[in-house]
Amino acid sequence: MKHLVAPSLLAADFSRLAEEVAMVNESQADWLHLDVMDGHFVPNITFGPMVIEAVNRLSKKPLDVHLMIRQPEKYIEQFREAGADVITVHYEACTHLHRVIQQIRDTGATPGVSINPHNPVSLLEDILEEVGLVLLMSVNPGFGGQKFIYNTLLKIQRLRNRLTVRNLTAHIEVDGGIGLHNAEKVLQAGADVLVAGSAIFKADDPIDTIRRFKEIGGEIRKFV
Ligand code: DX5
Ligand code: ZN
Repeated sequence: MKHLVAPSLLAADFSRLAEEVAMVNESQADWLHLDVMDGHFVPNITFGPMVIEAVNRLSKKPLDVHLMIRQPEKYIEQFREAGADVITVHYEACTHLHRVIQQIRDTGATPGVSINPHNPVSLLEDILEEVGLVLLMSVNPGFGGQKFIYNTLLKIQRLRNRLTVRNLTAHIEVDGGIGLHNAEKVLQAGADVLVAGSAIFKADDPIDTIRRFKEIGGEIRKFV
């Protein structure tokens, strides 16, 4: 099994959005990661379903939508209609997480759950069977270009062990501060989806950088 690479559009030049998406189309990227922020759950605002719908018309890659918003249950269907293939909500933003995950599954999208850096993976013990993906934040959500929090590596290992013991197949996606310098460690710890924003879009040669992200670690062990 080969790990997946999901460039985060947050670091793209939005005045050249179509070209940036075309670059991702041309590359070896697996998914396109889209960060939705509401200015409440996180101290930043980005874009919503309208922009995602436009990106969906341009993108040949599945859309991996990361909702950093309060009350995500209000907007799940809208994001699905806009073209989201994976919809990830934050544990910290959902009072009734199990219900929201079900709601995502009912739309036909793959449900994902994310936790912030301060929260332990043990919080997800009773939802693991319901999700297709766990997104571990390796920075505090809200901005691109932050420094990777190294404690995340321990969390990846713990989560990988739990999934293996329970014979579950959810992806482990890691998001924030990932570059060519630390991606191998993230994969060795047990992640299988790498999100990278600045490291890709701010690179001199983004397509080649994506190729290098894909090559890191070679084939990784099959976890289940
Ligand atoms: C941060 C977002 C990330 C962000 C990562 O809140 O969830 O997806 O785009 O950006 P980099 O890779 O620059 O840390
Ligand atoms: Zn993200």
